[in-house]
Amino acid sequence: MIKATTDKSAVALISGSGSNLQAIIDAIENKELKLTISAVISNVDNAKGLIRAEKAGISTSCIKHNEFSERINYDRMLLKEIEKYKPDYIILAGFMRILTPWFINQYHGLIINIHPSLLPKFPGLNTHQRAIDNNEKWHGCTVHIVTEDLDGGPPIIQAKVPVKINDNSSTLSSRVLKTEHQIYKKALQLLISGQLEYKNKNIWLSHEKLEKPLEIVF
Ligand code: GAR
Repeated sequence: MIKATTDKSAVALISGSGSNLQAIIDAIENKELKLTISAVISNVDNAKGLIRAEKAGISTSCIKHNEFSERINYDRMLLKEIEKYKPDYIILAGFMRILTPWFINQYHGLIINIHPSLLPKFPGLNTHQRAIDNNEKWHGCTVHIVTEDLDGGPPIIQAKVPVKINDNSSTLSSRVLKTEHQIYKKALQLLISGQLEYKNKNIWLSHEKLEKPLEIVF
């Protein structure tokens, strides 16, 4: 477990490379983020993010989704594992599963996600290709609070990235991913410091309702 000088803690859920997780671990180690990651849980046993977590001394576990026939049973097992750590937040860092409303309501307002598009544009998968196919001038990523509405919870911060004329899904996604690493830690800093709050279905920054997400243009 990597410790920070704060009483706030999180469990991170991953499915793959874990580069967002790594950016958060690095921010904690550099003292940019006062958070303790108590555990990292994956639904995929060979997720590279598990190795990143182990290197940082964080407890890891894997609950394979394909061993559960019902989504709700998976989520019940996931919650049981998470509750061992009593986290303040659940951080989705490339966790490629849809969570049930039941699960989301257990941690209502405390589950944070990063999604690779300028939501509400392109919820779901293949966001980079869809942005190119749609001739978007701008693409990017969004950190948002998770609600029952898939990729539809209140957005906190977005990074805007120009789509270049020769971009393909791979070049665009790697540029967007770098910006994800910047905005995820920023959103967490704001939440943990209490400057940013989620209440009454809205995001409040320094007690003022945020009418649109914060934006960083890259
Ligand atoms: C990131 O691009 C993240 O935004 C995306 O998966 C990737 C994970 O990369 N998440 C989703 O699409 C969730 N709907 P990482 O494992 O290197 O952090």
